[in-house]
Amino acid sequence: MEGRGSREIVSVNPADTRDVVATFQGASAEDARNALAAAQSAFPGWRATPGPERGRILARFAAIARSRKEELGRLMTREQGKILPEALGELEKGLNLVEWFSGEGMRLMGITAPSELPNNLLYTIRQPIGVASVITPWNFPWAIPCWKLAPALVAGNAVVFKPASLVPAMAAKIAEMFAEAGMPPGVFNLVMGAGSEIGDILVEDERVKVVSFTGSNEIGQRVHTICGRRGVKVTCEMGGKNPAIVWEDADLDLALAGVLKGAFGSTGQRCTATSRLLLHEDIADKFLGKLVAAAKAFKIGDGLAPGTDMGPAVDEGQLKTDLEYIESAKKEGAKLLCGGRRLEGGAYAHGYFVEPTVFDGVTPKMRLFQEEVFGPVLATARFKTFDEMLRLANDCRFGLTCAIYTQDLTLALKFTESVEAGMVHVNSPTIGGEAQVPFGGVKGSGVGEREMSKEGLHFFTELKTVFLDYTGKRRDSSIY
Ligand code: UN1
Repeated sequence: MEGRGSREIVSVNPADTRDVVATFQGASAEDARNALAAAQSAFPGWRATPGPERGRILARFAAIARSRKEELGRLMTREQGKILPEALGELEKGLNLVEWFSGEGMRLMGITAPSELPNNLLYTIRQPIGVASVITPWNFPWAIPCWKLAPALVAGNAVVFKPASLVPAMAAKIAEMFAEAGMPPGVFNLVMGAGSEIGDILVEDERVKVVSFTGSNEIGQRVHTICGRRGVKVTCEMGGKNPAIVWEDADLDLALAGVLKGAFGSTGQRCTATSRLLLHEDIADKFLGKLVAAAKAFKIGDGLAPGTDMGPAVDEGQLKTDLEYIESAKKEGAKLLCGGRRLEGGAYAHGYFVEPTVFDGVTPKMRLFQEEVFGPVLATARFKTFDEMLRLANDCRFGLTCAIYTQDLTLALKFTESVEAGMVHVNSPTIGGEAQVPFGGVKGSGVGEREMSKEGLHFFTELKTVFLDYTGKRRDSSIY
């Protein structure tokens, strides 16, 4: 559906802003309401469609996307900036998720339970909720929509999907492939537009019965508050300030590879990025020596060029934020070890490139230790003891993910037990997730049900408990 909003949504390549990827007419408030109305009227038919059949439509969507993986990967790199291997990795991850959820159409199961009473059957059934709003960010234009849309749809909800305005072309492909897969009209609805124009409608309108959001804390809190007031189900996945810990006995090369990937992969633009590095003081200098050498050797540029290690920031606003945090860390007394500048001129002249940046001597009082940058800026602090390390790891309002590099299993398990995070990686980077296990964080990183896995599916369902008495007689029971 073509939008009738006042604003054009222009998608440009952040590696070269002269390259216009696509232009769309944004949705107006009326378009958003029409999409909700379409979802509302399509819901009964979709709800009545058997789960396995809903799953097969998703499976067809996945098969279509799989056959276009290379084309979609290239589009993602052009539109979002991440390097092609990362874009292809994201496509694979989204495909895994859709494939996993498509099978869940056959497994929307409840339980049966023994009753306190004879001849009484207790069981539960899972049912869809209604119209779902799915609101997603620009950093994973494919995988995040997949891990929200697939469970919402397979569970039998009708969806209105609002992607971030920076990545409309990928969203349009998603809509195109759902149509091609045979999704009935009105079940999946795409609305593109500024959050300020249509965002609130998709959360506030009384037809919306469930909301899944990933994005900033500021907007997430707003979404959560509105849903709380309305009494509708909501999950918000928000920021992170994820620490990677390198213990004195760690395999330093393994840790180095993980920290580089975690901190600078996707140009640091992921909520799971490694943004704090906590080093045991016995290996700190040695590790930082290796890290700085590797960061300086990073090849930065257009993500479509083979051999590029890191692409651009997604837009000028994000680039400015990165540079502002770098300046603020310098002012607060952190020690800049490498990077810190925008890359300009030549091949960088028309893009938003920033160097991979490492600071040492960052303390919990500094903004760089506490606030999410969403860029390739790593804050290092050092520790002597386990307790000191744990205090540093937990001294932050976020709690999404973390990593610990050590050969000591006891230490790793002790850390796993006490760290305040939704996900822990042992000897692997802070990033990523898999369809089969829950994804999400604690504290300021998220509120509501976990995503992916059974939890992600169950979020989009209502549970109905049935008490089926087959005595056919009046009971003399005090519990009913
Ligand atoms: C990943 O690390 O592969 O917005 C996924 C984000 C997260 C997804 C990260 N919701 O960065």
